[in-house]
Amino acid sequence: MRHGYRTHTCGELRPEHIGQEVVLQGWVQTRRDLGGVIFVDLRDRYGITQIVFSPQDSPEAHALADRLRSEYVISVRGQVAARPPETINPRIPTGQIEVRVRDLEILSRAETPPFEIEDELRASEDLRLRYRYLDLRRPRMQRMLGIRHEAALITRLYFSQRGFWEIETPMLTKSTPEGARDYLVPSRLHPGKFYALPQSPQLYKQLLMLAGMDRYFQIVRCFRDEDLRADRQPEFTQIDVEMSFATRELIWELIEGLMAELWSRIRGQELARPFPRLTYEEAIRRYGSDKPDLRPGMPIVDLSAIALESPFRLFRQTVESGGKVAGIAVPGGAALGRAYMDRLTEYVRRELGAGGLVYIRHLSDGGVQCSVKTEVLPEDFVRRMVQAMALHPGDLGLLLAGPVPHLYRQLGALRLHMAQACELYPRQETYAFLWVVDFPLLEWDEEERRWVAVHHPFTAPHPEDEPLLESDPVRVRAQAYDLVLNGYELGGGSIRIHSPELQRRLFRLLGIPDEEAERKFGFLLQAFRYGAPPHGGIALGFDRLVMLLTGASNLREVIAFPKTQSAQELMIGSPDVVDPRQLEELHIRTVLPRTQTVGP
Ligand code: AMO
Repeated sequence: MRHGYRTHTCGELRPEHIGQEVVLQGWVQTRRDLGGVIFVDLRDRYGITQIVFSPQDSPEAHALADRLRSEYVISVRGQVAARPPETINPRIPTGQIEVRVRDLEILSRAETPPFEIEDELRASEDLRLRYRYLDLRRPRMQRMLGIRHEAALITRLYFSQRGFWEIETPMLTKSTPEGARDYLVPSRLHPGKFYALPQSPQLYKQLLMLAGMDRYFQIVRCFRDEDLRADRQPEFTQIDVEMSFATRELIWELIEGLMAELWSRIRGQELARPFPRLTYEEAIRRYGSDKPDLRPGMPIVDLSAIALESPFRLFRQTVESGGKVAGIAVPGGAALGRAYMDRLTEYVRRELGAGGLVYIRHLSDGGVQCSVKTEVLPEDFVRRMVQAMALHPGDLGLLLAGPVPHLYRQLGALRLHMAQACELYPRQETYAFLWVVDFPLLEWDEEERRWVAVHHPFTAPHPEDEPLLESDPVRVRAQAYDLVLNGYELGGGSIRIHSPELQRRLFRLLGIPDEEAERKFGFLLQAFRYGAPPHGGIALGFDRLVMLLTGASNLREVIAFPKTQSAQELMIGSPDVVDPRQLEELHIRTVLPRTQTVGP
């Protein structure tokens, strides 16, 4: 490189640099030839600077500039000059100056890229992922990764200042039960044996507490072979935390502080604390979800008592047979016409599996209109329901009847559907954090016909519910909590079991016989016998956190090299076949499904 170091980046020069000689290096964003003078927008991670080639400044540089194309990498030496007033660009920080080039060096040529390197992009996501290194040149993607970096830095500092140590835990390990399939790594030295990549560092972080480390955190990669969605990746990053002598309140306060710090430093927004707390039972009953989006309001209202008194048979019978009648209020929804309501009824039947939909319009003149005839559901009952749902004139009440908790789930989905359809989300960026607490400890898995842990098997029950463990397991609440933001589960954690007896009892309840518990978790049970501090913790999904911080709608937007829905990485082409010799060394023979072939 003839010019040696660049003296400035492409985002740095301002009017105070006018007259200085500088060296800039970067990519050609655009080249325009305006009557013999060539203008180039030179781009790097820091910004864009306009550089000018004119025959007066340097005939050689001007002649060479004629050959420049998009994405060429160049080095220029020249003088910073004020832009003529009519060409000042107030939208970019370097918009008042330009660099008049005396010497140009082409460092790399570029073929025409498969898509333009700019924020407004119409290329398919597959194409973007195949050429990810070009996609990542776009300012938007660079901003995303910049924020990700900053969030990690703030997190490290936050924990470090509070006495937490970042301690690395193994990647080649043994299965930890987090509920997904493991990614396995065959062992060459131990034929027939496999390491598992961690679904989370759960066991290690607990062992670190037993080891007296007191406070641990780690920004750590986790691996789960599960069905992918927009908010799930097979490998993802957690902010993993564990604390000895912790209470739930201490952990909530700690994490709320981290959120406040991140939102303040990155978004310039102050978060109201403490975050609201809903028990799992309340979250389901009021929002039909264990990760409710609180932004649209519209809680579910129980109308069973009124329904039970009404002459409407369907309503009455539902309640008499143990079900419920409940509804949500849609602000401004009374204006929705007949055709819309027919479509909505169809949606409720087909997508939500409800028997039907009853709706009530509270008209702006104060009248009420119900989809059930007055002979069947008289107006005074309709009015009582209007009152119970606090329907204002102009609002719409949507009612469903059926067994719970299924009914709540249906209303929860309907609530989000209506919030979207009627644009009931606040316009401004609103961050509705909350804690969902007191999850059930266990749930019945119909397929496997056994109890499974809702969080994981190391979660402690509420002490007052412990006596119910064997006799009435459904009623046992866990000391588990989730951090929820705008309908996303941002994190989950719990106070852990630290007694070997209780842990064994739990394994038994989960249908894990003593011998198997010993084989899989013997090290933990043993460790509990040597003085175990009470402890608890949490893990936050770091990718989800960055997605929500940046306003991205997909995890792939905030991960440099993400996987597709089918768990492939399109640029590098993974997963891939391997050399037969490698398989032999690993003592592996593959048996493929009939429909699949391997090889180029
Ligand atoms: P949990 O399984 O709830 O808890 O995971 C914690 C958080 O990690 C994020 N997450 C994911 N993000 C992207 N892609 C995925 N496939 C994915 N799976 C999970 C979520 C989730 O809330 N060991 C416990 C934590 C503890 O008890 O301390 C654990 O891993 O945001």
